Amino acid sequence: MAVKMKTVFFCQNCGYESSKWMGQCPSCREWNTLVEETVRPESKVAGTRSSGVRAATTEPQSLSSITMEEEERADTHIEELNRVLGGGLVRGSLTLVGGDPGIGKSTLLLQVARNMAADGRKMLYISGEESLRQIKIRANRIGSFTDNLKFLCETNLGTIEEVIRHTAPEIVVIDSIQTMYNEEVSSAPGSVSQVRESTSVLLRIAKSMNISIFIVGHVTKEGTVAGPRVLEHMVDTVLYFEGDRHASYRILRGVKNRFGSTNEIGVFEMREEGLAEVKNPSEFMLDGRPVDASGSVVTCSVEGTRPILIEIQALVCRSNFGFPRRQANGADFNRVNLLMAVLEKRIGLQMSDCDAYVNLAGGMRLAEPALDLGICLAIISSFKNRPIDPQVVAFGEVGLSGEVRSVSMTENRVMEAKKLGFTTCILPKVYESRLKNIEGMRIVGVRSVQDAMQIFS
Ligand code: TYD
Ligand code: MG
Repeated sequence: MAVKMKTVFFCQNCGYESSKWMGQCPSCREWNTLVEETVRPESKVAGTRSSGVRAATTEPQSLSSITMEEEERADTHIEELNRVLGGGLVRGSLTLVGGDPGIGKSTLLLQVARNMAADGRKMLYISGEESLRQIKIRANRIGSFTDNLKFLCETNLGTIEEVIRHTAPEIVVIDSIQTMYNEEVSSAPGSVSQVRESTSVLLRIAKSMNISIFIVGHVTKEGTVAGPRVLEHMVDTVLYFEGDRHASYRILRGVKNRFGSTNEIGVFEMREEGLAEVKNPSEFMLDGRPVDASGSVVTCSVEGTRPILIEIQALVCRSNFGFPRRQANGADFNRVNLLMAVLEKRIGLQMSDCDAYVNLAGGMRLAEPALDLGICLAIISSFKNRPIDPQVVAFGEVGLSGEVRSVSMTENRVMEAKKLGFTTCILPKVYESRLKNIEGMRIVGVRSVQDAMQIFS
């Protein structure tokens, strides 16, 4: 009997499903994103759409009766990645690596595959985007490879499943999910139903054969992987690779992780010979810092468990137009506006006829409130044209009345500053007594921005 096909409209942005067409997606509010796709009838789809993890028994069990073996984690030999994964790659896990095209996803995974193959693991790299020759050209830049790593150019998931079943690799890389297709789904590769079906096939393979699978997913212009929410909730771990196209460093951020924390970031640098780990991001971020220039101050932001020192630059100059320009790169624009309003009102800086530009050096994007004090001091320094001592690190949240409020992990920030040779820390007053005794570090506790301005005298 012929199977009756059903058509459904999917939002290509968030995966929302509707039986009729609409101009605007009611879920994510994007316009013109609903596209008609053919799907298999529900009964057949149901099995593949569920999580794919099949319990060995149908008897409900108590926690004490579940035996737990030590979770097996494989070393990727890339420390920054291990940390984001929560200590290594978990056996049988599904990991989504998302990011803009050209950011370095294929490069990273090729390096991971190479490292793990060198450990004697059987690896399979499946590319639907590049030919074997193109992969070879890339591989030549990266280094030498062992024969444990095999390559396959294929986009048909049926064939891929067959190959995986008979070669039984330990780890598989799928580059990318948007090029894969399942013959049983009639819509085009990259559409929501294809991406969803393809992922569920991969999920079944991963869980049933205990294979770890990396899935590459491209981010579309709106900042999401096509069919992203569908994909995100199906996989165990979601990592996003981000960074400025023009800057050489890249940041790998954990967004979801069933086996670890999601606060961690990994920092990489794109070099001629592939991605290199940046073990000390602070040093990297402060490289080339101007000395004795006004408008520059170093602050400390904490990403996950790791403090990163970063230079904030501000330029405040007379405006040529009636309407002053304000610009923020890397810092939050609205936050900068708010802090400037605080400075006008509480300190009395007359900046209403000034243009102001605030930059986080190195193209880093951070939104932590602990940056506030640094931003304020950089703006004041530029406005008054008075340089700040280059040995100073300042951090703290600034409130609307100009008060400096507490932030988390203060001690780690101070220690990071000390490690890099800074000698003075300006921080919220509450921590002063606690941190006073750190050798070689002058701790200046401040209650307000006004207090902090003593560094200019
Ligand atoms: P790629 O991994 O192909 O990006 P994605 O898979 O995320 O689309 O990375 C492509 C960019 O990286 C490309 O612009 C060239 C650059 N690159 C280097 O600078 N050095 C290298 O060794 C490699 C392999 C790539
Ligand atoms: Mg690629």
